[in-house]
Amino acid sequence: MSENENRDRPIIDMRNVSVDFPVKGPIPFMPKKKVRAVTDVSLTIDYGETFGIVGESGCGKSTLANAMIGMVKPTAGDVLFKDVDLFKLKRKEFKRIRRDMQMIFQDPYSSLNPRFNVYQLISEPMFIRGGVSDEDMKARVVELLELVGLSDDDLYRHPSDFSGGQRQRIGIARAISLNPDFLVCDEPVSALDVSVHAQILNLLVEIQSKLKLTYVFISHNLAVVKNVCDNMIVMYLGKVMESGSAESIFRNPKHPYTHALLSAVLDVDIENRKERVVLKGDIPSPIDPPKGCRFWKRCPFAMTGCKDKPAELLDIEPNHAVACHLVNDVFTDAEKDAGLNQPIEDHAEGLLGTHGKK
Ligand SMILES: Nc1ncnc2c1ncn2[C@@H]1O[C@H](COP(=O)(O)OP(=O)(O)O)[C@@H](O)[C@H]1O
Ligand SMILES: [Mg+2]
Repeated sequence: MSENENRDRPIIDMRNVSVDFPVKGPIPFMPKKKVRAVTDVSLTIDYGETFGIVGESGCGKSTLANAMIGMVKPTAGDVLFKDVDLFKLKRKEFKRIRRDMQMIFQDPYSSLNPRFNVYQLISEPMFIRGGVSDEDMKARVVELLELVGLSDDDLYRHPSDFSGGQRQRIGIARAISLNPDFLVCDEPVSALDVSVHAQILNLLVEIQSKLKLTYVFISHNLAVVKNVCDNMIVMYLGKVMESGSAESIFRNPKHPYTHALLSAVLDVDIENRKERVVLKGDIPSPIDPPKGCRFWKRCPFAMTGCKDKPAELLDIEPNHAVACHLVNDVFTDAEKDAGLNQPIEDHAEGLLGTHGKK
């Protein structure tokens, strides 16, 4: 335990974090546009928990995780890791604390250098840090291989000799080689064959309990996070739509977007699943996101007022918040008289289906 570790405080504390990326336009002197990758996200993650980030591809999950570990500087807001503002650290201090946070990537094919053998891949972080004898390094690599279900016979083989699942095991061994206490698993099974999903997920859970790790678990698939996460957020176009304990979100999903994601995973049994929400088209561009609720264009329940009024995340029960005008009934009587709570004409067509039927 390092000196700045107080386990009664969250390991991650993000306050009103936004990340914009500048986009280069075709014409030099035109006003610069920006990608609003993450907008005004606040969250805390406690030591030892698994925190899920869910949403379609491009909604800002990886950017948010990269901001947590100091790899992307937020445009606004604060990020504290163990109460330390990562962006105020000197380079050397940052490098030291960065060893406590590691990442497992979606694609074990491109994240492992094909010219390295397993020994080189797993020992590289220790080699860079220095101070370990060859003998200790080898013993540690063998220990890590056993921990992830590989053996010392694999030491001098190359990534191309392994299946996708085995490569992900190598990636996991490499990520935990420096004894981190915070691990971001960014879509760790998305690129793998469905038949090995459960094995890799079980391995991650096993390693978490053995090493007492805190996880951020990113997935576009709600079925994957259901059994591993304690708390979670559902993101859409850079914003949080629903947040809370995984138990309450799966028991009582409220946001139409969460319903839509759940409609896509029919094998997850939800008690009060209502109509089937079919999402048409891709997530819109985050360059010019809707100014009201970010989801209204694809929401079958969108009301006239959703176009302009941003949806705030409000508590609906302990540890469960939703950003939806329909759920939170936010319109004043005057706004209702002006028709802001009326459905947008002809909007829902094609967006709503009945669950089970087409
Ligand atoms: N370095 C970058 N420069 C410009 N745009 C980026 C950069 N990284 C991500 N984006 C954009 O930010 C948005 C969110 O991306 P990302 O966080 O990777 O989403 P996800 O992980 O949910 O798929 C996307 O529109 C993506 O194109
Ligand atoms: Mg991503």
